[in-house]
Amino acid sequence: MAFLTCWACVLVGGLSASLTRASDFSDLYPPLWKESPGQLSDYPVENGTYIINPWVFSERMGVYKILLNKTATYFAKFAPENEQNLLWGLPLQHGWQYTSGRLADPSQRTDCGYESDHLCVSVDSWWADLNYFLSVIPFLAAVDSGVLGISSDQIRFLPPPKDQTRFCYDVSGCHSSFSEIMKKWIDFYQYMKLPTSNFDDLLNYLWDAHTISLKTSVKSFEDRYAFYSEKESEFEKNWIIAVEYIGASRIPTTLIRVHKSQKGLPPRILVNTDIAPVISDFTVFQNTVLLGLSTVGKVHKSSGAFSLISWKIAMKTQTSRKLLLKTFDILLEISE
Ligand SMILES: *[C@@H]1O[C@H](CO)[C@@H](O)[C@H](O)[C@H]1NC(C)=O
Ligand SMILES: *[C@@H]1O[C@H](CO)[C@@H](O)[C@H](O)[C@H]1NC(C)=O
Repeated sequence: MAFLTCWACVLVGGLSASLTRASDFSDLYPPLWKESPGQLSDYPVENGTYIINPWVFSERMGVYKILLNKTATYFAKFAPENEQNLLWGLPLQHGWQYTSGRLADPSQRTDCGYESDHLCVSVDSWWADLNYFLSVIPFLAAVDSGVLGISSDQIRFLPPPKDQTRFCYDVSGCHSSFSEIMKKWIDFYQYMKLPTSNFDDLLNYLWDAHTISLKTSVKSFEDRYAFYSEKESEFEKNWIIAVEYIGASRIPTTLIRVHKSQKGLPPRILVNTDIAPVISDFTVFQNTVLLGLSTVGKVHKSSGAFSLISWKIAMKTQTSRKLLLKTFDILLEISE
C-alpha cells in the first residue's frame, strides 16, 4: 500500500514537472522572437549611431526584445522570468499583427508583407502605423530615460518610403513632434526605476502612456481605412474604442494573460462576408470577442462616449478593477 502511494507521488510529481516544462515561457513569446536582434550591437552602426529599420518586422520586434531585456530587472520583484513585465503586451500584440497578415500592404500594390517579402512592414498598413507609436516611441523614451545605458543621440530609425512627416526618428525629433507621448512614456520609465515602484502605479503609468499614444496617432492615419474591407475598418475603429475601456480597467498586460487573450483576436484580416458570431473559420472565442468589440463600439457611439465616462468612474476603485480582472481571467480559462 505504502509502495502504491509512493508510486502515485512519483507519477504526480513527474506529471507536474512535465506540466511546468510544457508551459515553458519561451513557448509564449511572439513569432520570430528568437531570430530577432537581442542587443543593440546586432544593429548596424553609422558614425557611432545605431540604425534600426522599423519597416522590417524582425528589426521592430528586436526593439521590443531589447526593451524587455533591459527592463526585466525592474519587474523581477513581482515574479521570476520577467513574466510580470507589463511591456509584454506590446510585442505580443505586434506578433499577432504579423501572423494575422495585418502588417502587409493592404492596398496590395506591392509585395510588402506577402510571401516573397514577408518581413516587410507596410507604411500603408493602419496597424503598422499605429504600432510605430507603441514601439519606436516607447523605445526612444526608454533610451532618453537612461534605461538602455546609451546616450540619446545614439539611436536613429529609418523612415518609410512615404509619409515621412507623419513619424519621428530619434529622441530629439520625437520630443519636438510628439512631446505628449514621449513625456508619458518617460514618466512610466522614471517611475519604474524607483526602488519603491509598485505594480498598481506602474499599471497606471503604462496605460496612460498607451492610450495617449493611440489617441494622438490614430487621427494621422484615417486615410488608411480606405484600403480595408468595411468589416476590417470597423474592427479597427472598435479596437481603438475598446482599448480605452481596457486601459481604464488597468488590465495587467503580463505575458501569460496577454498570450491567452490574444487567442480571441481575429486570425486574419476581415472581409465583408464576415459576420460575427458565425464566421466559420473562427473559433467560438474569436467570434465572441469580435461580436463583443462591435457591441462596445455601438454602445460607446450611441451614448456619445458617456459610457466611457461611466466606465472610468466605475473603474476608479480597486475593488471593481479586481473584480473585473477576476472575471476576465475566468473568461480566458473557460475559452481555452
Ligand atoms: C559623421 O560625423 C561627422 C562628425 O560629427 C560628420 O561630419 C559626418 O557628416 C557624419 N557622417 C554621417 C554619414 O552621418
Ligand atoms: C539580456 O540579454 C543579455 C544578452 O543577450 C543576456 O545575457 C541576459 O541574460 C538577458 N537578460 C534577461 C533578464 O533576459
